[in-house]
Amino acid sequence: MIEIKNLRKSYNGHEALKGISFAIQKGEFYGLLGPNGAGKTTTISIMSSILKPDSGEVIIDGMNLDTHPGQAKQLIGVVPQEIALYGDLTASENLHFWGGLYGVSNSELKKRSEEVLHLFGFYDRRNDNVKTYSGGMKRRINIAAALLHQPKILFMDEPTVGIDPQSRNLIFEVIEKLHKEGMTIVYTTHYMEEAERFCDRIGIIDNGQIIAEGTLKELKSNSALKEVVVVTYDHANESQLKEISAKWPDSNLSENKISFYATDVQSALSGIISGSGQMGADISNIEIQRTNLETIFLSLTGKQLRD
Ligand SMILES: Nc1ncnc2c1ncn2[C@@H]1O[C@H](COP(=O)(O)OP(=O)(O)OP(=O)(O)O)[C@@H](O)[C@H]1O
Ligand SMILES: [Mg+2]
Repeated sequence: MIEIKNLRKSYNGHEALKGISFAIQKGEFYGLLGPNGAGKTTTISIMSSILKPDSGEVIIDGMNLDTHPGQAKQLIGVVPQEIALYGDLTASENLHFWGGLYGVSNSELKKRSEEVLHLFGFYDRRNDNVKTYSGGMKRRINIAAALLHQPKILFMDEPTVGIDPQSRNLIFEVIEKLHKEGMTIVYTTHYMEEAERFCDRIGIIDNGQIIAEGTLKELKSNSALKEVVVVTYDHANESQLKEISAKWPDSNLSENKISFYATDVQSALSGIISGSGQMGADISNIEIQRTNLETIFLSLTGKQLRD
């Protein structure tokens, strides 16, 4: 559905994108996960034809964005990182303005506006000026505006940054519904929880490059990171613990705790518990450190995702 080929973009000599390529299947929820300044907005802006790349290509549903911008753009709804609404206009008026830009006819626009106002829980406030709205409400209207022309593809650039939990949950509900209905979604975030929760596939972007890509499961297994089970024992003597530790291929004993390393702790856990039981050692606490996007990012780059 979407093919991104070797995108490069520099701002005043600073290389923001250093050759980004990825492909997204129809109906897929694709996450671009990366820290501040990684190049997420630059990538999304090029994919939405808001910005021109220095080189590289964007193909949307078989159409080159450069040579068929009009047709390709009809398929896309864009929710930009910076909220673009007119404060002195009402929600309805803002929707009419944006719908008009997307080329939606007046009669269709009336119907679609009502639909999205209901979808985002705004119908009762449709005649209030947008400047009286909270940040989360503005964000909801922004997403609603991107959906007026019934795009097949939705690009969202960090749609949940700096908004209240109620708006965030409503946005989550709507995008989950859209995904279920078959919409192709590209979603940028620096929240790994969001990427883990929603995305079928994730591209991890850092410093203008995709440094890893795949399903969460693939990213975990490719990272070869070990997960850890730290077991704390009660009333166990040192020789007992040494014996338990020695039986595990990769472990580390320190005072009354043993750290057991495994590529998949889920399947290792029962062996660890029964092994301890057989030695008559009482367990007082079990702590599990699983591999997640944060630890994968840390292992790939040596830095935290949210610096
Ligand atoms: N208009 C611009 N002029 C100059 N430099 C820019 C411009 N836009 C982005 N940059 C730089 O390009 C790099 C990538 O920026 P971009 O906004 O794409 O990152 P991002 O991943 O969206 O970050 P954030 O999470 O902060 O939104 C950064 O180093 C940024 O400072
Ligand atoms: Mg950005």
